Amino acid sequence: MALDISPCDTDADLEEWRRVRIAVVPYERTQSIAEIRADETPERLLVLAREDGVVVGSGMANRSEIGKAGSVIPRVLPDHRRRGHGTALLERLVDHVADLGYDTVRAGADDEGSLAFAHRFGFEEVNREVEQTYRITGPVEPTPTPEGIEVVTAQERPGLWEGAYEGFGLEALAGFAVDAPLEVTPDGWVRSWLGDPMFLALHDGEVVGCAGLGLDPDRPTRAENSLTAVRRDWRRRGLAVHLKLVTLAWAAGHGIDEVYTWTQDGNAAMRALNTRLGYATTGVGVQLSRQTRRP
Ligand SMILES: CC(C)(COP(=O)(O)OP(=O)(O)OC[C@H]1O[C@@H](n2cnc3c(N)ncnc32)[C@H](O)[C@@H]1OP(=O)(O)O)[C@@H](O)C(=O)NCCC(=O)NCCS
Repeated sequence: MALDISPCDTDADLEEWRRVRIAVVPYERTQSIAEIRADETPERLLVLAREDGVVVGSGMANRSEIGKAGSVIPRVLPDHRRRGHGTALLERLVDHVADLGYDTVRAGADDEGSLAFAHRFGFEEVNREVEQTYRITGPVEPTPTPEGIEVVTAQERPGLWEGAYEGFGLEALAGFAVDAPLEVTPDGWVRSWLGDPMFLALHDGEVVGCAGLGLDPDRPTRAENSLTAVRRDWRRRGLAVHLKLVTLAWAAGHGIDEVYTWTQDGNAAMRALNTRLGYATTGVGVQLSRQTRRP
């Protein structure tokens, strides 16, 4: 039986692509078609793998935001695994990264089987991320707003987030416990790092902190924490705790009972803060990389 791997084109293709992601990664929100389209760049490739017309898997290849590298994500539906589809998808995606001119390719694995697959194809661990989850069982009471701070949402003040890239965003991104520096463009900052709602802490009109949510229309009772960050000169004054509690209070008021977040294993401060707020550790993801072209 021939496997056909073709780029996603129509909305129907993107809905199939979403269906595979939802089946393979049920513990995370999946972007809507509108979000997927908004994230389109000349470098990104989305594919569907079909066997006799039946979708068995999907994939994405793109520029990575970590280091100067490409990234690949092959996904095969559970009922169609161990039949070489993952291998075929990986090959196609790695070819795309090679065409983009990146010597290094990154990937991730959240379970033992996928990790074994990645090792088989020469990927090695470079970092780990921890998933932490907060279960909402009643109203959440935020701490008082720290002195000198006003909290607004990015949505009610258009332009604030865009304007915060230089003075706030670059410093926040530089503080990530990643194995290679984050390479986030001003456009990427606006496209993929803004929560909705995104709560911004303002001091003298400047953004000095943020926390927010990515909502999940496929499962409205669940949401993902978006970037939480506090500018260096405002740290250790309870601002992150305040912003996260404001976020959780908003979630509690909007019918959400589960908020999860992924944090680099090496980010002790963020993990400790989440634990203190009552988040439980619920998963581990391994990040991997290898040379794009292997000898
Ligand atoms: C990783 C994934 C894409 C593999 O898809 P697949 O179609 O089952 O993979 P293949 O059949 O091409 O596997 C090729 C080889 O990888 C290794 N492998 C794959 N799955 C494995 C598992 N669960 N346990 C141990 N080894 C495994 C084996 O060596 C396998 O060869 P074999 O079947 O002859 O023993 C699939 O498990 C998946 O969708 N995982 C979730 C998404 C993900 O994490 N993707 C990123 C991985 S880098």
